[in-house]
Amino acid sequence: MKKVGNHNSITRKLFLGLASSVIFSLTSFAQEAAPAVTDAAAAPAAVTGGDAVKGKELFNANCAACHKLDAKGTGPALRGVAGKYDMPWLYKWIKNSSDLIKSGDPQAVKVYEENNKAVMSAFPQLSNADIDNIIAYTSEPKAEAPALAAGSTEAVPGTAASDSGISNNIILGALALVMIILVVMLFLVNQVLTKVAKANAIVITPKTPTTPIWKAFARNQFLVLVTSVFLLLAGAYFIYGYLMQIGVDQNYAPIQPIHYSHRIHAGDNEINCKYCHSAARVSKNGGIPSLNVCMNCHKNIAEVAESTATPEYSKAFYDEQIQKLYTAVGWDQTSQTYTGKTQPVKWVRIHNLPDFVYFNHSQHVTVAGIECQTCHGPVQEYEIQKQFAPLTMSWCIDCHRKTEVKMEGNEYYTKIHDELSKKYGVDKLTAAQMGGLECGKCHY
Ligand code: HEC
Ligand code: HEC
Ligand code: HEC
Ligand code: HEC
Ligand code: HEC
Ligand code: HEC
Repeated sequence: MKKVGNHNSITRKLFLGLASSVIFSLTSFAQEAAPAVTDAAAAPAAVTGGDAVKGKELFNANCAACHKLDAKGTGPALRGVAGKYDMPWLYKWIKNSSDLIKSGDPQAVKVYEENNKAVMSAFPQLSNADIDNIIAYTSEPKAEAPALAAGSTEAVPGTAASDSGISNNIILGALALVMIILVVMLFLVNQVLTKVAKANAIVITPKTPTTPIWKAFARNQFLVLVTSVFLLLAGAYFIYGYLMQIGVDQNYAPIQPIHYSHRIHAGDNEINCKYCHSAARVSKNGGIPSLNVCMNCHKNIAEVAESTATPEYSKAFYDEQIQKLYTAVGWDQTSQTYTGKTQPVKWVRIHNLPDFVYFNHSQHVTVAGIECQTCHGPVQEYEIQKQFAPLTMSWCIDCHRKTEVKMEGNEYYTKIHDELSKKYGVDKLTAAQMGGLECGKCHY
């Protein structure tokens, strides 16, 4: 009896120790996680009299077409412009700069001439308070690193992921710690028990050796047979799988010469696929846009917003990519002109059917009205473009078997439809019944 009592008290102590260490590690985890939340809530400090947040909106709506904060656009960089002029002059200038120049104001004439006599639009609709707000925005100090963006109040899609990444790490760390403590505890328990056993003069008898398990297995012929059949089948399955994926490049996502993100363009900025891939509507090919199309927007977008940066790709990285575009089209940002020195961008082709297959985009996009995403996946979420579908023959055929042809409003089909629906005795026809399984339709 005495023995058991002794034993119990030791395990109880150990158990208490274990429980308290688990609780300790969990609370320290909670403390580590907490500051991240308060950081994110801290708002950026306000500067000068006006409201910089309202000012930013006004600036983006009215001024951003020609001005940037830190780089020359059509007009000069505007950060810190309040230090150059007094407010009454700025009111007059912004409301109507031409009047001010005509009146012969020396400062106005000077800026005008320095900027090759480019004309700034007049903004009579802006009140002095509006202009105060804009100037407050231009007086904000430059944000140092993209990391600062994470602390601002704007919801940044990428940072949510990074937060959960950090807390995941903390959880994993806490779990690992608990595991280590458990192992140490078990080791200690074992030691204590052996000591107790020794103290009480209990002899621990070693196990008697039995037949090793593999020998028993080898003697059982039935088990051996079943296992070898299983291994053979599994082997055949993997070899077949390997052979079938030869030439199938699903998920192929090569590195492109310019890191071009569909997530930012087609997703965040909701640019229509067909704006860039206009060929898909009318021709066989999807078509990659020429760089002129890019410059429709990028004459004025030389850098991305702070909030576009993700934990994986910094603002500096994205801005560098836009510079690559400028180098390729020969765009000189300071003079806002084309230099004429161009170099082609060699996009790596991702989708590529074998030469003996005929596939036509307009037939699927315009005639059948199939969304790009059905075949190309959620492209608006891809940071890096990839091949979503396997592009195998069975992929094409499966869809032709399942998909009904849109007959309504298509005169071309009315007669064919009448004939074929009688032939098959159905109301609706699938692409397969229309001839979408005939070898010659897809093979040259
Ligand atoms: C159509 C293009 C355009 C728009 C839009 C525009 N500006 Fe300008 N801005 C210019 C140009 C060009 C100059 C250089 C002076 C000149 O050539 O007239 C300039 C000069 C200025 C200057 C003097 C800068 C200096 O460093 O000397 C200020 C201040 C200014 N703009 C503020 C604004 C504000 C505020 C807005 C929005 C409400 C705005 N601008 C909208 C083209 C524009
Ligand atoms: C602003 C222009 C632009 C928009 C909008 C755009 N793309 Fe693209 N797309 C490109 C460029 C440039 C490439 C080549 C670089 C690359 O592969 O990332 C490309 C590549 C592709 C490719 C791979 C081509 C290949 O090589 O096989 C597919 C598929 C594609 N886009 C589909 C779409 C879809 C679907 C949408 C709409 C959700 C869309 N794109 C919107 C510019 C655009
Ligand atoms: C309809 C307007 C529009 C067109 C067309 C357009 N872009 Fe953009 N581009 C944007 C906007 C908006 C951003 C993001 C700016 C931000 O986040 O602040 C951007 C960002 C970028 C970036 C940085 C982010 C990234 O994707 O790596 C690159 C590089 C870029 N564009 C390249 C191109 C290329 C190449 C083309 C032509 C195939 C193109 N853009 C066509 C509007 C456009
Ligand atoms: C029925 C499926 C399907 C639909 C719908 C579809 N595509 Fe494709 N797309 C393909 C296939 C298959 C290829 C490979 C073609 C090849 O290699 O000849 C391809 C290739 C492309 C390419 C690479 C360049 C080229 O011409 O081969 C681009 C870009 C593209 N698609 C964009 C689009 C866009 C944008 C849409 C929507 C307007 C769209 N696709 C709709 C199946 C589809
Ligand atoms: C998402 C479904 C889908 C996929 C995937 C698809 N198709 Fe189609 N395809 C259709 C539909 C629907 C039609 C009928 C269009 C119509 O004429 O109204 C069609 C029609 C065609 C036609 C014209 C058939 C005729 O009777 O004239 C050809 C050729 C064709 N597809 C080739 C292909 C090839 C090659 C692939 C694979 C690389 C493919 N399709 C993948 C849905 C699909
Ligand atoms: C809907 C379009 C479509 C039809 C109809 C079609 N094929 Fe194909 N076929 C394809 C595509 C796409 C590939 C390329 C597959 C790949 O690259 O993995 C292909 C590949 C092949 C290959 C090469 C083997 C391989 O896997 O690369 C043969 C052989 C072939 N087809 C025969 C036929 C015959 C015979 C018929 C008529 C019974 C037929 N196809 C009908 C789309 C079609």
